[in-house]
Amino acid sequence: MPLVTTKDMFAKAYAGHYAIGAFNVNNMEMIQAIVEAANECKSPVILQVSAGARKYANPVYLRHLVQAAVETTDIPIAMHLDHGADFEICKASIDGGFTSVMIDASHFPYKENVEITKKVVEYAHDHGVVVEAELGQLAGIEDDVNVSADDAHYTRPEEVYDFATKTGIDSLAIAIGTSHGAYKFKPGQDPKLRLDILEEVGKRLPGFPIVLHGASSVPQDKVAIVNQFGGSMPNAIGIPESELRAAAKMAVCKINIDSDLRVSFTAALRKHLAENPSHFDPRQYLGDARVSMKEMVKHKIINVLGSEGKA
Ligand code: G3H
Ligand code: 13P
Ligand code: ZN
Repeated sequence: MPLVTTKDMFAKAYAGHYAIGAFNVNNMEMIQAIVEAANECKSPVILQVSAGARKYANPVYLRHLVQAAVETTDIPIAMHLDHGADFEICKASIDGGFTSVMIDASHFPYKENVEITKKVVEYAHDHGVVVEAELGQLAGIEDDVNVSADDAHYTRPEEVYDFATKTGIDSLAIAIGTSHGAYKFKPGQDPKLRLDILEEVGKRLPGFPIVLHGASSVPQDKVAIVNQFGGSMPNAIGIPESELRAAAKMAVCKINIDSDLRVSFTAALRKHLAENPSHFDPRQYLGDARVSMKEMVKHKIINVLGSEGKA
């Protein structure tokens, strides 16, 4: 089946009380790990590309690698631009074959966010592409945005109806307690999702797909392996997976996970090299890293998203 948009995926996910995983991709091994896991779990999947990934890999390479994934599986796959910073990058992605884009103007004042988002929606919809936008701000570091915990703020439910109707977006990312990166909260803190805000958003936008960014939970066992084999990742925790599972049963239809996949990849790579100091063939250590990432994706599909068997 060709690349799809997220429209049908989200409609089914909303009705079925589960969410679709949106996993960040930067190279062939990552695309293979994610798609093989989704294929074996018979789950729809979203492969998302950040501006950093475009710079690292070249979007043309990524598009052809995703095309290879489409041709070797029969699950629904969407290709999504993650955190599009402006109209130009959204347009370039739409013209380059993406089926979904995010315009992230959430750091601008409300009125500007509406204007920029609306412009992207008009171009995207004319080309059969769907659009995600954001209200509220998560803490953490991503490509062009570095938001400190003090500057982060929750989404205001009283704005969501106005924003969705004025812009015509297809899904809305909200800030309810998640944050980007692998260093989210300190051990001893008790990070929680504001499911009350999610519920309020759901009441104001019935049937509308909601998106959660920054949804890695920081796997402690994988961090321990990284540190056992020469790494020095600080102790950190994320939102518990049970909270994310609860959100997936509500209006959340898309859950973004990047950092947990990176950590699982790095743990296996460090372990392989430490245990096999004579190895120099990248297929050996990248092969192990790919298996580890695939297991992590399966774990998320089964335990967080609930999308197993929904392809
Ligand atoms: O939210 C951002 C994603 O984790 C992508 O990270 O900008 O380092 O590619 P990146
Ligand atoms: P994590 O850093 O929590 O994996 O979040 C990824 C993300 O939101 C990508 O847009
Ligand atoms: Zn994000």
